[in-house]
Amino acid sequence: MIFPLGRPPGLCYQAGDLTSDKPLRIGVLGSGKGSNLVALADACESGAINASIAIVLSDVEDAGILKQAAQRGLAERFVAPGKFRTKLDETAEAACIDALTEAEVDLVALTGFMRILKGDFLRAFENRVINIHPSLLPSFPGLEAWKQALDYGVKVTGCTIHFVDQGIDTGRIIAQKPIDVKIDDTPQSLHDRIQAAEHELYPATVARIARGEVAFGGF
Ligand code: GRF
Repeated sequence: MIFPLGRPPGLCYQAGDLTSDKPLRIGVLGSGKGSNLVALADACESGAINASIAIVLSDVEDAGILKQAAQRGLAERFVAPGKFRTKLDETAEAACIDALTEAEVDLVALTGFMRILKGDFLRAFENRVINIHPSLLPSFPGLEAWKQALDYGVKVTGCTIHFVDQGIDTGRIIAQKPIDVKIDDTPQSLHDRIQAAEHELYPATVARIARGEVAFGGF
């Protein structure tokens, strides 16, 4: 069953109403250089998205994404991830939930956040967490998806925006953008073109969400 974004059944999270005209408040999580944050922030600033970046969180203290956020005067915070390599520990997950809740975010946008988010986090922001992945899912989930695509020999790859569920890159797909693979592509050249596509697709998709045009729910 598909529900309009603004009427989530059983939503345990109260901030904002995605069907109202009120600008959407976005929380961004990332571990890397922050190019998708820049694309989203620029689109918010220009009015292309009826939204603002309410807070930026990273599990990497010196991540570019935090520097990009600080340069733009956005609220930003490093959250120490704890003892695990691929997920946040309980304290870190709670700190992220608290920071996002205090910032009153309506939507959580992951941009290369290298930690798996688990039940508590996903329940706190049920159906409000989206991710960008550098392949046409369900092909090539996981790390270095552009390299996986090149190694496999596909002729078309691209990027995907999807809701986040408990799996790895498995949530329901919201939008995709295809990219042709060139005969002389290297992992770097292909990744560069995919990232350029991401910088168009992510803001365009969040703009659709802010306009209440994206449905959520089951498959
Ligand atoms: C993006 O390529 C995204 O697809 C992947 O991580 C990368 C993040 O890049 N999940 P950036 O930090 O936004 O530049």
